Amino acid sequence: MDENHFIAKKGTPIPFTAFWEAPSNIALIKYWGKTAPQIPKNPSLSFTLSSSVSQTEVFFQPSKLGKFDFTFYFEGIPKPDFKPKLQTFFKRIESYIPWIHGFELIIKSKNTFPHSSGIASSASAMAALALCLMDMETQLFPSMETDFFHQKASFLARLGSGSAARSIQGPVTVWGENKIFSKASNLYALPFGEELHPVFSTYQDAILLVDKGTKAVSSSQGHDLMHQHPFASQRFSQAVTNLEALTSTMKAGDLDTFVDVVELEALSLHAMMLTSNPYFILIKPNTLAIIEKIREFRVSQKVPICFTLDAGANVHLLYPLEFKAQVNTFIEEELAVFCEKGQYLLDQVGEGAKKCNFV
Ligand code: DP6
Repeated sequence: MDENHFIAKKGTPIPFTAFWEAPSNIALIKYWGKTAPQIPKNPSLSFTLSSSVSQTEVFFQPSKLGKFDFTFYFEGIPKPDFKPKLQTFFKRIESYIPWIHGFELIIKSKNTFPHSSGIASSASAMAALALCLMDMETQLFPSMETDFFHQKASFLARLGSGSAARSIQGPVTVWGENKIFSKASNLYALPFGEELHPVFSTYQDAILLVDKGTKAVSSSQGHDLMHQHPFASQRFSQAVTNLEALTSTMKAGDLDTFVDVVELEALSLHAMMLTSNPYFILIKPNTLAIIEKIREFRVSQKVPICFTLDAGANVHLLYPLEFKAQVNTFIEEELAVFCEKGQYLLDQVGEGAKKCNFV
């Protein structure tokens, strides 16, 4: 299957309002390095989250001048500075949704997680917008199959932000061609499937907010630096090896290997940043302090907790539901002190995006 599979027909514009909520996700096997147009250099795998979501409403109006245009509001406030990023997104996807040309859009988006929490909202925001576009496409072409709906939503979201491809479905998704998941694609993400051990569909993710500021180096710049990175090819093959190990462990429910692979991936991602030219450092002293505490707790309490990191200083602490009470006490008593203003978010693995009801 190639990109042409996702080209829609033109269609006659009709007024419609779409309203979707899409979650953030946290990668266990990291996507770091890509080629145009948003094709990953290695496969990635993530937990879909549940409480950290973007909610997006799109009002589709037939355009009076027959020309496509849009306005964007974030948390009720017009945000013209977001327009260039969205314009690039619409340019990338217009050939797949040619019906868009007959519309003017009002896009209203908000996040449930706090603004400036250091949690990237591009994945959930792009996924929610892509789902609204697909909802409109379903109104124009009603015979669409559910699998196609999800795959094209993921395909469009990917063109906004790579990791957004993994924010459509849950509880675990895989994006990028590989030998283990024969149906996996570079164009969109797919769910892990029935073989996922049940322990992982209720996993907890405590997001420890070490630094709530904006990152000094964006993910896009980081991806770019992988082009001339001295360890790039080793990294891309390491991700494949780690995906193989993690997949078996996530089928078997083997939590010790899960811990090893997840932490190795997190530190390998940051090792790429530390050895880029120019190098950059996103972790902070408190990131390392938390990591040390997690390792000590795991050994002393024999609880299979582990950490992962995204492109920032915050730590995602992952643990099975059955240890929730014990781990939450540990966070409050020993980890919160390393968080900015003592703040952290308690989230868990979720089932994926949802259509919202109008109130
Ligand atoms: C470290 O998806 O933010 O979170 O495709 O340029 O928008 P763009 O990058 P983005 O990169 C995510 C990087 C990561 C790892 C991951 O989520 O797999």
